[in-house]
Amino acid sequence: MNDLAIRFRTVLSEMTFAVFLLFGSLCFLASCDRDDTIVDQVVYDTTPFQFTYGNFPDPDLPSDNPLSIAGVELGRMLFYEKMLSKDGSQACASCHLQTDAFTDIRQFSVGVEGLNGKRQAMAAFNLAWHQNGFFWDGRAPGLRDQSLMPIQDPLEMNETLEGVILKLSGSTAYRDQFVRAFENGKINALNISLALEQFMFTIVSVNSRYDQFVKGEVELSESEQRGYDLFFTEYDPWGSEKGGECFHCHAGFNFTNDRFMNNGLDAEAAFTDEGRFKVTGDPADRAKFKVPSLRNIALTAPYMHDGRFATLEEVLDHYIAGVKDSPTVDPLMQYNLNPGLDLDAQDKQDLINFLQTLTDLSLLDNAAYTNPF
Ligand code: HEC
Ligand code: HEC
Repeated sequence: MNDLAIRFRTVLSEMTFAVFLLFGSLCFLASCDRDDTIVDQVVYDTTPFQFTYGNFPDPDLPSDNPLSIAGVELGRMLFYEKMLSKDGSQACASCHLQTDAFTDIRQFSVGVEGLNGKRQAMAAFNLAWHQNGFFWDGRAPGLRDQSLMPIQDPLEMNETLEGVILKLSGSTAYRDQFVRAFENGKINALNISLALEQFMFTIVSVNSRYDQFVKGEVELSESEQRGYDLFFTEYDPWGSEKGGECFHCHAGFNFTNDRFMNNGLDAEAAFTDEGRFKVTGDPADRAKFKVPSLRNIALTAPYMHDGRFATLEEVLDHYIAGVKDSPTVDPLMQYNLNPGLDLDAQDKQDLINFLQTLTDLSLLDNAAYTNPF
């Protein structure tokens, strides 16, 4: 081969190499680009949320709203989102504070217009095990129905659903998260309610000293044990054993029977809030309210649907000697009414000490439920 031919071939192969390099780097750049879009790509993601709940039984969750990591995260964003209120001043979390076991320690919450609500806020945890409606009167059949009501309540967030949808649609973070959480990716009222439902289902409180006691990990003090016995014992009009009767209604692992009852707060003439009656129209439901869970009860004062009692001691004074008769007072209150529960100061202290074992401090700073912003 002559020199020229060799030179020509070298040039050729250099060119090929250059072209190869050029294409290679183009490809590389392109693939980089592709990788980037894969990383950033916003796609529907059904990865299930790993839902754990200690010794509690499996909850009966609605099958049409499976918990996904993306859905729960969206619900958490919405729970802390002030855009849900008319003037941007209030989120769900403004009245359901994690540091107060997801309730409001004010007697009546104050809405965006500075107006007081008429009922005490309820503690939003272990809701996955509520099967009988939400709110003190149970007017919301499911958590998804419940979750849209405070947004539109004039005494609470006072916003329209159209207003919320418009505001959320202006945010890339929300547009993306709705795509990750829902197959149709839409920012609409249904998806807002389903995401809030998912997040609220995941707020669980199962790690009180009482739970550790049930698992045999800790012992109760003598006083707590006495309080436990009083809580779970019936009043015996003929015997000498004392009983508090509490377990009839505050029953089971979540310390509620999930029913609506009248625990004798008022005589008929003083029924100011008709409670469950407003929902069913059945006179037998007058002044009946949802039996609340007693978990974390030491953290969630004031007590009852109108927050009338400031302390657990006042609550016990009610059950011991303050129960009022009325046509709808629960028959289980018969001994509270007459002759009254025979509990003295020490018994009260023991009951309070037991109720304090239901406090789960890990709920208050569990990172899974904190403000994501
Ligand atoms: C202005 C204060 C306030 C705001 C804001 C608020 N809530 Fe409430 N929440 C309450 C009060 C008060 C009740 C009890 C109302 C009733 O029974 O009529 C309640 C009850 C509930 C319950 C019922 C719990 C049960 O055991 O039945 C849930 C769940 C709940 N709220 C979730 C939410 C969500 C989700 C949001 C945001 C979309 C929200 N709340 C915003 C005050 C508030
Ligand atoms: C007949 C059923 C019944 C019995 C028995 C009963 N309770 Fe209640 N309890 C209720 C109902 C219903 C409410 C809510 C009433 C309302 O707000 O109008 C309630 C509310 C409470 C509250 C306030 C919860 C909150 O979040 O505001 C505490 C604390 C409480 N009960 C403790 C006890 C203790 C302790 C006993 C036993 C001494 C007891 N209860 C016995 C039905 C009962």
